[in-house]
Amino acid sequence: MKKKYALVGTGGRGVHMYAKPIVERYKDNAELVAMCDINPKRLKLANKEIKRHIPTYTNFHKMLKEVKFDTLIVATKDSTHHEFIIKALETGHDAITEKPMTTDDKKCRAILKAEKKSKKKLIVTFNYRYAPYTTRVKEFLHKDIIGDIISVDFQWYLDTSHGADYFRRWHRRKENSGGLLVHKATHHFDMLNWYLEDEPEEVFARGALRFYGHARKEMGVRCLTCKYKKTCKFYFDIEKAELNKKFYREAEGEDKYYRDRCVWSKEIDIEDTMAVSVRYKKGTFLSYTLNAFLPYEGWRMALNGKKGRLEAEEFHSFPTGIPDVQTIKIYPLFKKPEIIKVPKATGGHGGGDTRLLDMLFKQGIPDPLGHQAGSRGGAMSILIGVAGNKSIATGKPIKIKDLLK
Ligand SMILES: NC(=O)c1ccc[n+]([C@@H]2O[C@H](COP(=O)([O-])OP(=O)(O)OC[C@H]3O[C@@H](n4cnc5c(N)ncnc54)[C@H](O)[C@@H]3O)[C@@H](O)[C@H]2O)c1
Repeated sequence: MKKKYALVGTGGRGVHMYAKPIVERYKDNAELVAMCDINPKRLKLANKEIKRHIPTYTNFHKMLKEVKFDTLIVATKDSTHHEFIIKALETGHDAITEKPMTTDDKKCRAILKAEKKSKKKLIVTFNYRYAPYTTRVKEFLHKDIIGDIISVDFQWYLDTSHGADYFRRWHRRKENSGGLLVHKATHHFDMLNWYLEDEPEEVFARGALRFYGHARKEMGVRCLTCKYKKTCKFYFDIEKAELNKKFYREAEGEDKYYRDRCVWSKEIDIEDTMAVSVRYKKGTFLSYTLNAFLPYEGWRMALNGKKGRLEAEEFHSFPTGIPDVQTIKIYPLFKKPEIIKVPKATGGHGGGDTRLLDMLFKQGIPDPLGHQAGSRGGAMSILIGVAGNKSIATGKPIKIKDLLK
């Protein structure tokens, strides 16, 4: 029997990651029976984009009342995820949510409580876990190649294209996204929590807005009408890409969602520079940094174990081009190092998106490495960021257990 899905949030991610694949690639296993969004134009366009006439709703409660489905897919603005997840669970549906599961500890506790009370299940879609390269690292760790992990050095780099984009949209306000320590780093903390098979205990963080925001005098409200558009290196042409033009520019009359707001705005209250120190329950120390204004994009991680060190790195943009082979370097103590070459996978998020969707929508795919994440994984990854935010605000270390009370 085909499973029935409803989708809330028909922005770029909702349509291209879920609606389109369901009606095309997964049509034998899954059926999309309704779509909901507060913006009626984007909803209409969603049907046009997937070439279907799926029933649409601007009122979530009406959709819930009128449509029979098994699972709700949540792809709205981060700070609203909890509303839909909780309502779906309370009314006897399973839920699949985009990352981050939610944006603060209060909403996190409410989700965990609702899932516990219901007989239903929440899945959080951490696509980075699924990429062939990150999976390969997990396989080595699973074989205990480097022994118990004592410490981790982890740096994530966002460039002046993708990185700057977080400062143009709703992500730029902590009330919407939880800041990059939640919105973005949830991926990174989740990947590491999964590698370590452990949970965070205590977090200390520093963070600042040093590059974007009020750092520049020459600013406007949005790129479209800005007098500096000819000279600003951060000019974003909202009408250049067809998707942005149709889904955002032409739909903005409905909700004033301007996708090209000025990255130098005083309204921005998220950090672009963050340093986080985490102690895990089994004793591992993590030293993590996130910078959102760099000349290239990617990450580097080194896992320092009792039997050796494993180094991994990936680039999403690089001035000389992205290498088509990635390496994992293993340095065993007192033995010769080993360099493993992994061909660069194609597809969204290092090839992770398709593999994640296969596991969601095809039945019976085995999961020996535990790729699929539930609410606990969702919670543990955001709570590092939430604790980080609290630590930045107070200058004090924050215990994760205090956020779960
Ligand atoms: N896993 C990944 O790699 C990845 C990549 C991109 C986005 N995302 C996540 O996907 C989600 C959507 O991101 P996006 O880039 O498509 O954002 P977006 O702003 O383009 O789309 C969000 C959509 O949600 C709608 N919406 C907002 N509040 C709503 C509400 N209360 N009720 C109904 N609809 C509402 C908006 O109108 C919009 O159409 C976010 O949570 C984001 O973090 C994940």
